[in-house]
Amino acid sequence: MSNQVSRSSRLFITKPLDSLLVEASDSGVHTLKRTLGPVNLVTLGIGAIIGAGIFVLTGQASAQYAGPAIVLSFVLSGIACAFAGLCYAEFASMIPIAGSAYTYSYATLGELIAWIIGWDLILEYLFGASTVAVGWSGYVVSFLRDWGVVIPAQFTNAPFMHDPQTGWYTTGAIINLPAVLIVAFMSSLLVIGIRESANFNNIIVVVKVAVVLLFIAFGVSYINADNWTPFIPPNTGEFGHFGLSGILRGAGVIFFAYIGFDAVSTAAQEAKNPKKDMPIGILGSLVVCTVLYILVAGTLTGIVSYEKLLVPDPIAVGVDEAGEGLFWLRPLIKIGAIAGLSSVILVMLLGQPRIFFSMAKDGLLPQKFSAVHPKFRTPYVTTILTGVVAMTIAGLFPIGILGELVSIGTLLAFVIVCIGVLVLRYTRPDQPRPFKTPWVPVVPILGAIACLAQMLALPWDTWLRLLVWMAAGLIIYFVYGRRHSKLGAARNS
Ligand code: ALA
Repeated sequence: MSNQVSRSSRLFITKPLDSLLVEASDSGVHTLKRTLGPVNLVTLGIGAIIGAGIFVLTGQASAQYAGPAIVLSFVLSGIACAFAGLCYAEFASMIPIAGSAYTYSYATLGELIAWIIGWDLILEYLFGASTVAVGWSGYVVSFLRDWGVVIPAQFTNAPFMHDPQTGWYTTGAIINLPAVLIVAFMSSLLVIGIRESANFNNIIVVVKVAVVLLFIAFGVSYINADNWTPFIPPNTGEFGHFGLSGILRGAGVIFFAYIGFDAVSTAAQEAKNPKKDMPIGILGSLVVCTVLYILVAGTLTGIVSYEKLLVPDPIAVGVDEAGEGLFWLRPLIKIGAIAGLSSVILVMLLGQPRIFFSMAKDGLLPQKFSAVHPKFRTPYVTTILTGVVAMTIAGLFPIGILGELVSIGTLLAFVIVCIGVLVLRYTRPDQPRPFKTPWVPVVPILGAIACLAQMLALPWDTWLRLLVWMAAGLIIYFVYGRRHSKLGAARNS
């Protein structure tokens, strides 16, 4: 009996905060290189955030669910993310470790939950990178076609597709080659260096933000207020189809557009002054993107009737609708979208290996995974592993099936981070917190509820996939992680 009790209590063993803080201040050749300042961290966040969500999903969400009130969906989802962002900022400044939510849970909720969240984050980062790589491929193929370069369809599509009615089938395509190549390129860059990667990211971020600003600045004068009337189209009688419930459903869909600000926290061990700069990176990028999103959504639905927006390139449709005056912006929109998606892939591929790296350091994954490249000082083993798996998924599978999994996985991480902040406030009230989440417990509680509500709005089969994924993770934990856990071994000795 007592043996059983000690076994189960081991599952909830927490990593002492003091040892985490020592780890966070480690330096030397076996540690990651600290080169990032506040500006790089904000651009890293913007790099991860602005992508397929705004360039693709805005149109679909406004045409099908919210109409012009998609603006309010962006406000709602932005508020939920702000709650979670404030919680992330407290943790990231207090425990600046590359493991992000995984490490925060290890310190607060115990090893089992930490494993669950680490495994769950694979859905956000690794699957996220693959999803966006598939979107990137679509934009590049269409951009090249505009210039007369046609890549054969067998090399630009997934060989496997899924139909909810009939299940999986083969398409005759061989591989989505552009998607594979972009992941390979970004992974190589990430092996070479964090500074090189951050500089490259900065350039892309400037391009995509410039394109977004051009669209807002020049689009405003083409707004026709008739397109905003009624601002909230009446509900069709079905939940989620316009009206107030449509705004909620729209918020759930465009949540994808906000994913990424949390990725800043995985660069904590490469930040020069993480205690001060982590909150700036996380919250700064979130604020910039929220403002841009609301302005883009307002401008777009003002230029073109929301009914015409059920297309893969809604911003380009907005530009077309404005007429000759904005034609010059058309190619730039595609370049902006391609740049946007590129940096999302880059930052997602940056986040994943750093979480694996932290898990390996704790013994929950093989020790080899925590190797740091002797010259580049990057976690090269996990970066290459992440790249190879992400390339395979991006090359073989369609985008739709992956996108919702990414959202549900991320929301779960946000819920656990919000709860973790609360737990630590009660278990370690005196621990210095360079950044404090305001209005505790209100903000973390609202954050957890808002994220949980968005999870509940997702379809049942997405939940099923999440459960299958988590069950696979638990098997790996009990077969490998639990037996090799350094903390567990220390406790038994
Ligand atoms: N927020 C990222 C995007 O919209 C994931 O592509």
